[in-house]
Amino acid sequence: MDKRERERPRVVLGVSGGIAAYKACELLRRLTESGHDVRVVPTASALHFVGEATWSALSGHPATTEVWESVHEVPHVRIGQAADLVVVAPATADMLAKAAHGLADDLLTNTLLTARCPVVFAPAMHTEMWENPATQENVATLRRRGAIVVEPAVGRLTGVDTGKGRFPDPVEIFALCRRVLARGAQGAAVTDLTGRHVVVSAGGTREPLDPVRYLGNRSSGKQGYALAATAAARGARVTLVAGNAELPDPVGVDVVPVGTARQMREAVLKAAADADAVVMAAAVADFRPAVYTTVKIKKVDSREPEPITLVRNPDILAELSADRVRPGQVVVGFAAETDDVLANGRAKLARKGCDLLVVNEVGEHKTFGSAENEAVILAADGTETPVPYGPKEALADTVWDLVAPRLAENRR
Ligand code: CTP
Repeated sequence: MDKRERERPRVVLGVSGGIAAYKACELLRRLTESGHDVRVVPTASALHFVGEATWSALSGHPATTEVWESVHEVPHVRIGQAADLVVVAPATADMLAKAAHGLADDLLTNTLLTARCPVVFAPAMHTEMWENPATQENVATLRRRGAIVVEPAVGRLTGVDTGKGRFPDPVEIFALCRRVLARGAQGAAVTDLTGRHVVVSAGGTREPLDPVRYLGNRSSGKQGYALAATAAARGARVTLVAGNAELPDPVGVDVVPVGTARQMREAVLKAAADADAVVMAAAVADFRPAVYTTVKIKKVDSREPEPITLVRNPDILAELSADRVRPGQVVVGFAAETDDVLANGRAKLARKGCDLLVVNEVGEHKTFGSAENEAVILAADGTETPVPYGPKEALADTVWDLVAPRLAENRR
């Protein structure tokens, strides 16, 4: 094996026996094409859905289900030991039960017991099976032990049924795997937000003037979505309150779409009731038109346009910071400034009363819609953390790096 080969991150793709096994082929293809060395370990039932030939051809390795093949290589131990990440996709109710109870009756369950790397489960099953208390307890056990079990998506299931239990988009599972691998490679605690519920607001609010017009802003939602995706990859349960963002739902994140500032306030406060941390990354309109006209406003050639009167919207961040609906809750705000960035940021941190304030400079061609960001994170205790220009995901991880120890301090 040459050096480059050894440097490729090693991923075990465990496939258990569900119809979504065919979607795992797409995940496998993305992993191999982006330079990962993937060993597929299907269960015997998984081979009813997708055959050994497909897994072998796409991965470039044999895909065996039993511990009795190539015994001299001790595969039941070696595959798990050598892995940088194990992802079980799809994970059936049966597989979750076996993993939670430490059973080891085939190659995949043996691999799960010997793996010392991060483990991701992407469950797919019928709603009844997912909601069954036995499955829920198994999921809770696996999460408590540090595994990442993503919430299944809601949608069409096998046959005519719809509900929760759908296999998440393989593209989003791939994105999650990359995040987990990246943190593992840095030697960082991968699932330091396990057992935590975090709420993130993202995007921008729109304040309607009439049925076709609104007052809005340029926020794309990318920073808030990056915060939600990175928190999920660190094991948190995530509620993402999304204002008008046209971005795919990050895997395992509960997305609540909203339109106006008042709708955002309602959704954020509801989710915050049992949240450990709330991050207000959304650009919330400070004002809204005082009057909403139910029919389209027409121009009248003979008359000048009517001025638009604005009224103040509720300040969600200030309200969250003042009320602290849950003791010890960590509240984070964002400040988008065009001038006197740090001075304005410090004044805003004091005014809003939050624990952390991410201050960044914005402009017509800066930050909005871009995949990169640069910021200084101000803390109520006076510390300042500069975050150099880089991907919005890196800024998101730095935010969670600052939130995590504050949560630990506040552990009840
Ligand atoms: N925010 C909020 N509710 C509002 C306005 C803003 O929760 N009605 C939150 C934003 O989500 C962000 C922070 O407050 O986390 C800062 O928003 P910003 O608009 O920059 O601050 P303002 O207080 O509105 O100050 P100004 O517009 O005067 O700079």
